[in-house]
Amino acid sequence: MSDAGGGGSEEYKREESVALLVIVSLAALSLLSLIAAFAYYCYITRKVSRRLHSLQPPKRSGSPPAPPPRAPPPPPPQQQQQGKESPSSNSASDGAGAAAAGMAVVVAGERGVQVFSYRQLHAATGGFGRAHMVGQGSFGAVYRGVLPDGRKVAVKLMDRPGKQGEQEFEMEVELLSRLRSPHLLGLIGHCSEGGQRLLVYEFMANGGLQEHLYPNTGSCGGISKLDWDTRMRIALEAAKGLEYLHERVNPPVIHRDFKSSNILLDKDFHARVSDFGLAKLGSDRAGGHVSTRVLGTQGYVAPEYALTGHLTTKSDVYSYGVVLLELLTGRVPVDMKRPPGEGVLVNWALPMLTDREKVVQILDPALEGQYSLKDAVQVAAIAAMCVQPEADYRPLMADVVQSLVPLVKNRSAQKACNPNVQASKPLD
Ligand SMILES: Nc1ncnc2c1ncn2[C@@H]1O[C@H](COP(=O)(O)OP(=O)(O)OP(=O)(O)O)[C@@H](O)[C@H]1O
Ligand SMILES: [Mg+2]
Repeated sequence: MSDAGGGGSEEYKREESVALLVIVSLAALSLLSLIAAFAYYCYITRKVSRRLHSLQPPKRSGSPPAPPPRAPPPPPPQQQQQGKESPSSNSASDGAGAAAAGMAVVVAGERGVQVFSYRQLHAATGGFGRAHMVGQGSFGAVYRGVLPDGRKVAVKLMDRPGKQGEQEFEMEVELLSRLRSPHLLGLIGHCSEGGQRLLVYEFMANGGLQEHLYPNTGSCGGISKLDWDTRMRIALEAAKGLEYLHERVNPPVIHRDFKSSNILLDKDFHARVSDFGLAKLGSDRAGGHVSTRVLGTQGYVAPEYALTGHLTTKSDVYSYGVVLLELLTGRVPVDMKRPPGEGVLVNWALPMLTDREKVVQILDPALEGQYSLKDAVQVAAIAAMCVQPEADYRPLMADVVQSLVPLVKNRSAQKACNPNVQASKPLD
């Protein structure tokens, strides 16, 4: 009897330890699941917050703190929030690889962009008088102005009502407030009052590159006086502007409207890339694209983007190649008044760009005697790579910069079309 009782108690004890083991295992499993869920939560939170805080400029140690914005107060929140397109999440772009490879990392911090009242800008530009008008684009007229502290500015007055104009305004303010590069046009401030939208930029004394390449329609008169050295330096500085957007910010910024009129020249003919109204954020995964409506300017839009709407940083590289061709040939991207076969610059030039004998034939006659054949062949080869139809084979902007540097360094300053222009200092 006692044996049977002892056996029962042993069995009871065994069952008890099995139950205990099961409970402990279940508890451990729950704890593990809890830890895994928490880790996943942290990962998602970080990813979202990184997305939200993206587009910050690379860290610059020792840079002074941004100045506080001036009164009056910023526009109502609904005006600032409208019309943002977010990048598609199932896509990617080339700059991500650069970021992953340890290139510039985004850092929080906003540059001081001032908020102006309409009255202040009205006063600065002589009441938006015709005498102050320096240009007219699709966004609206551009006026020269002087701020009370003496700074020269260009004020863009939006005359395009509707959602597209509003989106461009917001994108421009959003991006230029956060990006910082000596090769991008600086935004000084903006005004959003009632229906009025105005953007205030640094003043670029020599205006858009196209005015100097095609002086028949610009201020130089006659043939272009932009010499070879100046053109190459402009090509390099503009390439650095795009390199910054593609490879030094995360996620990368695709300009989407890179063209000669969006390369502005200061009094010494140093170039800065402007007009971010159409810019898109690239995706942060390697090898993909963002899908978007096809926007841009005829003659500059990459064929694959025009056909599919798939946008990558390589679409900008194509547009850059078109600008490089403009600098080389002095021809506009599309001119259907030219003889058959010569109307579209890329189609006409591409077969000759890689032929040493023919390169000279396509160069701007205004450049005669200013370049070595070796340099011309090299620049033509860079242009050919940028405008090739296969997007994947186009170079990164960092490659373009590297290839252009030896062609530009040690070159003397430009004479350009302004006889008062002083010798230029290298930017970096
Ligand atoms: N910051 C600036 N400083 C000096 N001139 C400027 C400045 N911004 C623009 N301009 C002048 O105004 C002209 C029009 O510029 P805007 O960017 O409005 O139009 P666009 O680039 O010619 O065309 P789109 O609107 O299609 O981009 C430029 O070609 C240039 O001459
Ligand atoms: Mg422009």
